[in-house]
Amino acid sequence: MRLIHLSLLQPGMVLGKNIYNNEGNILLAEGVKLTDYLIRRLGALDFSYIYIKDSKTEDIAIPELISEQTKLEAIRSIRTEYKNLEKQSNLKGSFLHLGKTFSGMMENIMDEISAVNESMVLLTDMNTNDYNLYQHSLNVCLYSLVLGISYGYSRDEVKTLGIGALLHDIGKTRLTPELIQKPGRLTDEEFKEVQTHTLIGYKILKDEPNIPLLSAHCALQHHERLDGSGYPRGLKGPETHEYAKWIAIADSYDAMTTRRIYKPAMLPHQAVEVLYAGSGTLYEQRFLAVFRDRVAIYPTGMTVRLSTGETGVVSKINDSVPHRPVIRILYTPDGQEARVPYEVDMSESLAVMIAAIGQAESD
Ligand SMILES: [Fe+2]
Repeated sequence: MRLIHLSLLQPGMVLGKNIYNNEGNILLAEGVKLTDYLIRRLGALDFSYIYIKDSKTEDIAIPELISEQTKLEAIRSIRTEYKNLEKQSNLKGSFLHLGKTFSGMMENIMDEISAVNESMVLLTDMNTNDYNLYQHSLNVCLYSLVLGISYGYSRDEVKTLGIGALLHDIGKTRLTPELIQKPGRLTDEEFKEVQTHTLIGYKILKDEPNIPLLSAHCALQHHERLDGSGYPRGLKGPETHEYAKWIAIADSYDAMTTRRIYKPAMLPHQAVEVLYAGSGTLYEQRFLAVFRDRVAIYPTGMTVRLSTGETGVVSKINDSVPHRPVIRILYTPDGQEARVPYEVDMSESLAVMIAAIGQAESD
């Protein structure tokens, strides 16, 4: 299987993964043969990257951190709970079911993740066109769990971090959708209002018996930054809890690598560069190092062009050097299809660099 840009789709290509709509229903099923009509539809629906199956890459499996079933169930639960919160006229009283739902969910997700022993996969779900708060919450949670496990936290600590990450933006359920999805720049007034989601989130979570108090603090502190430039309180360095610092990294990364109404998605390696630009000022340097080691900057299935001019697909991530994967070459430097695909292991061929990522095929 491989991931290719929409502009390179051709009739007859076979879809590699199910494509879902916002409700979690299948729009197009894996195995469907693409036609001109379907390709146009995907374009109109604003997809940019699509997984396809072909004979040259059929043995390349895209590793998943959690099963599609668990992911869909998680998103459904988050959506249901958040929709309920949106309907509450005030926030007095308790949300007992919240803690129960998410505590149980976190146990399941952690069991699945601990069974995976690969570098972190691309979670940006390039095959959905509809990015939303629920998907974002789950992604930030999954990144944070992997980071927490890699950092050596105990299971209980990881769980507290995971719940905090999953619910970090719960306060947004109390803001208007127009404000949250507003394209372009916010006015000062609007930005002030958006900032309140941190405190609102904390208030929703802090007295829930099944939500650790530290998870509530994650909602409160995930926009704080090392140098005090964050909000709501402008905390500096050690004043912010470690968990909130992990979530800040995961939150920023996911926001950059997913498409929003008002901006295209950055590719993973670009987003990592932006995070590094904030190393030591916005984000904890040693945490970024853990992140860089665990994130698949060049995820399996991604099309890349090498400095040699050859174009291929990431076929395997080298666990010890995730930024130097194995590339299955499909096109020779002159743009001709390789008669027999062959592999370049970038962990061994040290002179070879990745020159372009994403769109490059035989163009
Ligand atoms: Fe937030």
